[in-house]
Amino acid sequence: MKSLLLACLILTTSFISYDASAEPYAKADAVAGKALVDANCIHCHAENFGGDGSTIYTREYHKVKTSKGLVAQVRNCNTMLGLKWFEDEELNVAKYLNQTYYKFTE
Ligand code: HEC
Repeated sequence: MKSLLLACLILTTSFISYDASAEPYAKADAVAGKALVDANCIHCHAENFGGDGSTIYTREYHKVKTSKGLVAQVRNCNTMLGLKWFEDEELNVAKYLNQTYYKFTE
């Protein structure tokens, strides 16, 4: 219980101190991005990597290293999967993944 509380505090602090102005998706909508990820992406990551599928972003040797790389990866997935997302949808997804998992500042 105590560790859960601590985790929440750390999470809250990192959100408050989070500066979104420097990224390629500063104006994107992370809430809309989450809905897209939940509907289109998680099932396969969870199947391949177990759990809720999020370990793929947080694993030690994750492939994506920068915000730009993240946008490029989301774009590749979009194209590969034939989702036909518009650019703003790609940016919403990238922002959500960055805020929640990667936390790149540039
Ligand atoms: C059909 C299965 C599948 C679907 C659907 C899928 N992915 Fe993936 N994704 C993978 C696999 C497998 C990897 C790991 C590739 C590797 O390690 O080379 C991956 C890797 C990634 C990574 C890089 C993780 C890292 O190492 O930093 C991101 C970001 C990502 N996917 C985003 C998405 C998004 C966004 C969607 C939804 C549009 C999506 N994926 C849908 C299978 C999938």
